[in-house]
Amino acid sequence: MCKEHTRMYTLLNQIAVILVLLCLQYSLSDPCPSPCWCLYNNTTVVCNLTGITEIPKGLPRNTIALLLRSNEISHIPKTAFDGLYQLSYIDMTRNKLQDNSIERGAFNLSSIDMIDLSANLFTSIPQELPPKLLTLNFYNNPISTLKANSFVHAKSIQYLNMLANQIDTVQEHAFDPLINVRVIDLSSNSLNDGSLRPKAFSKNMELNELRLNYNQLQAIPDTSYLPSSLQKISIYGNKITTIPSHAFKSLTNLTNLAIAQGTINSIEDNAFFGLDNLRFLDLTQGNLSGTITNSTFNGLVSLQGLSLDINKVSKIDAGALHPLKNLQELGLSENKLMTIESAVLDTTFIPKLSAVYIYGNPWTCDCHLRWLREKMDNASYKVGSPSLTDCAGPPDVAGKTWTDLKPSDFVCK
Ligand SMILES: *[C@@H]1O[C@H](CO)[C@@H](O)[C@H](O)[C@H]1NC(C)=O
Ligand SMILES: *[C@@H]1O[C@H](CO)[C@@H](O)[C@H](O)[C@H]1NC(C)=O
Ligand SMILES: *[C@@H]1O[C@H](CO)[C@@H](O)[C@H](O)[C@H]1NC(C)=O
Ligand SMILES: *[C@@H]1O[C@H](CO)[C@@H](O)[C@H](O)[C@H]1NC(C)=O
Ligand SMILES: *[C@@H]1O[C@H](CO)[C@@H](O)[C@H](O)[C@H]1NC(C)=O
Ligand SMILES: *[C@@H]1O[C@H](CO)[C@@H](O)[C@H](O)[C@H]1NC(C)=O
Ligand SMILES: *[C@@H]1O[C@H](CO)[C@@H](O)[C@H](O)[C@H]1NC(C)=O
Ligand SMILES: *[C@@H]1O[C@H](CO)[C@@H](O)[C@H](O)[C@H]1NC(C)=O
Repeated sequence: MCKEHTRMYTLLNQIAVILVLLCLQYSLSDPCPSPCWCLYNNTTVVCNLTGITEIPKGLPRNTIALLLRSNEISHIPKTAFDGLYQLSYIDMTRNKLQDNSIERGAFNLSSIDMIDLSANLFTSIPQELPPKLLTLNFYNNPISTLKANSFVHAKSIQYLNMLANQIDTVQEHAFDPLINVRVIDLSSNSLNDGSLRPKAFSKNMELNELRLNYNQLQAIPDTSYLPSSLQKISIYGNKITTIPSHAFKSLTNLTNLAIAQGTINSIEDNAFFGLDNLRFLDLTQGNLSGTITNSTFNGLVSLQGLSLDINKVSKIDAGALHPLKNLQELGLSENKLMTIESAVLDTTFIPKLSAVYIYGNPWTCDCHLRWLREKMDNASYKVGSPSLTDCAGPPDVAGKTWTDLKPSDFVCK
């Protein structure tokens, strides 16, 4: 009996020893550095919000993604990522990095293609960037001047996000080295009309998309020097009041143009002339008043979507939309339209029209507008949204919605 006990004890002891050895081997093989978590066969190392002040040592050699978001790291030593030949993405958003925080050679790994240095304390673009970087996320750093030599070591960048810095000055040639860049986002900075020299983007021959939203621009930038590779431009929320004639004439590859949430109050005739490939024009929520003329949208032969929603447009000339042979969706909601001629939506000119949004206008629901009420029941395109569309007059029908009324209620006395 006693002998049995001893044998059992020895056996348990041996199991314990084996377990300890296993554990040791476990942690020696590829330890996940404290206080991080390691996921997906240790290819993703997560050290978010752990309060660390240094990059952890002994990162797994097969680390692909290193997430160091929201910590107190202020220094990146030269050897921080030594031997991590699969490292592809580093997220250091919201740390304490500043100019000179990155030791020379620290990011010298050709496997790194995406880096996030947003919400740090940089006042200039660091010169020590990975040699094959494709994406640089750099929003919310206190940069006010983008210097001429900023990107000389960053020729490989394709996607540059500089959202919400404090940029008011862009030195000449600042973007010149970015010969591969596809997208530049400079939204929510302090750009004014003098900030961007005419030739600021003239060397970025691969640029597809430029975002200048929420800056202090008062005029449409001189687009004659913008690369003809551009497909999308967005300029939401600036202080621009006029879109001049032929403002975009050289941008023949442009497909999307958004000049919305701003103060545009006039569009000159032929403003969009030359934009043969433009498919979507967003002019939502401006300050556009008066008449859309026969020449306002001249040249937009490929346009599929046009939003004039939330403006103060009071009249649309009969032929204003006739150049838009490919128009499908039209937003006219929340304007100052009292009436509209049936020729405006003549489908012999705009055969692909599929939806028109008309609610939120002070419609005079008389015989001149009966045609549109009829279309609501029976047109090749949808007229939206009937239950939200009210009449402002004549007195008999004022306040009624278009679903309350039949076409025969639209009468002239
Ligand atoms: C990841 O590292 C941990 C900690 O060292 C180790 O125990 C585990 O075996 C590794 N996971 C995989 C799937 O390799
Ligand atoms: C896990 O990582 C190790 C070491 O890098 C590797 O040898 C192994 O093939 C990986 N396993 C899987 C399932 O990916
Ligand atoms: C860590 O940060 C990444 C973004 O970098 C996020 O996607 C992830 O959910 C975060 N993980 C944890 C555990 O906080
Ligand atoms: C970066 O690495 C390459 C080779 O991998 C080497 O030739 C070069 O000198 C390194 N540069 C720096 C600044 O460490
Ligand atoms: C314009 O678009 C066409 C067709 O997509 C393309 O072949 C051409 O290279 C583009 N032009 C520029 C300057 O990128
Ligand atoms: C809109 O334009 C009118 C003049 O047409 C001007 O008085 C007003 O200040 C403008 N409003 C905004 C928000 O720009
Ligand atoms: C606008 O076009 C319509 C339809 O083609 C035409 O009847 C009208 O005369 C034009 N108006 C002006 C001011 O040219
Ligand atoms: C609706 O349109 C069709 C042809 O598109 C026509 O035959 C029919 O008479 C129209 N109905 C009304 C009420 O206008």
